[in-house]
Amino acid sequence: MISIIGAGKVGSTIAFLCGSSGLDDLVLVNRDEKKAIGEALDITNAIPKNSTISVSGTSDYSKIKNSNVCVIAASVASHIITRSDVMLDQAKMITEIAYKISEFAPSSKVLVITNPVDVMTYLVQKRANLASKNVLGVASSLDSARFRYLLAKEFGTDQSQIKDALVMGEHDDSMVPIFSCAKFGSTLVDDILDEQQKLRITTSVRSYWKSLRDYKGSSVYGIAKNTFDVINGIIKNQPLEIAASVSLDGQYDTKDLCMGVPVTITKDGIAQIHEISITPQEREQLHKSAGIIQNNIAQVEKFLN
Ligand code: 2OP
Repeated sequence: MISIIGAGKVGSTIAFLCGSSGLDDLVLVNRDEKKAIGEALDITNAIPKNSTISVSGTSDYSKIKNSNVCVIAASVASHIITRSDVMLDQAKMITEIAYKISEFAPSSKVLVITNPVDVMTYLVQKRANLASKNVLGVASSLDSARFRYLLAKEFGTDQSQIKDALVMGEHDDSMVPIFSCAKFGSTLVDDILDEQQKLRITTSVRSYWKSLRDYKGSSVYGIAKNTFDVINGIIKNQPLEIAASVSLDGQYDTKDLCMGVPVTITKDGIAQIHEISITPQEREQLHKSAGIIQNNIAQVEKFLN
């Protein structure tokens, strides 16, 4: 069973992707129960006709009991300037959700979308005392998809020509596009792009969400599909190689935080954290990003305690 906490645009779109593919039974949880029930009734009309799954909406957390996967897509408000704008309010809310998951679905795989996602993922894992392999933040795979698009655009090609586009670090202004990994065809993009092009692309990846905000209000489909891909991989046990925010304990010389790194996800959660070779400059940027996340974690821990 898949429980999606937060029946807003992103949560409902994830539920629609899961329901329309007949992936598994779905429970949508929302403070406003009418909204959850409404979205469930709508998605119910989108499930494959031979599917056996059910879709329900509720405000009662006990209904998430025994979920295989719990997605936290709830948010107290929109963020305008940075993804950490409403961090303290988000922290208070997500801590309450974490306790509910700990109570009703302690062995579920928990996917966090709520921003600032690295800090929220860390909080969920620590406050709910969940196994670190079972908790991940979906974000860097979205940033990597944006990096792939921007590289394709730079080279005037389609996205299929871009391989190994990877973004690591914080899912916010200090994220690190790994130019030393990405390829255009079989050529490393590092060997083609000059510093000015790399700076421009880095800025565009980091501010992509603000462009979406200015055009349409908020991002929905990119984050929803990236989250669906993780859910699908877990439910069907199809190992997935993505970048995600996970708990680090020494990898990339960092610890006591969650941050975007390449991992393998299976039905058992985070099966492997990959320590790939990156340039000294990329490693320096990654450590700067880690420091920002750790400062935010310290702020939130102080606020909650
Ligand atoms: C995004 O990157 C806002 O975190 C969200 O689209």
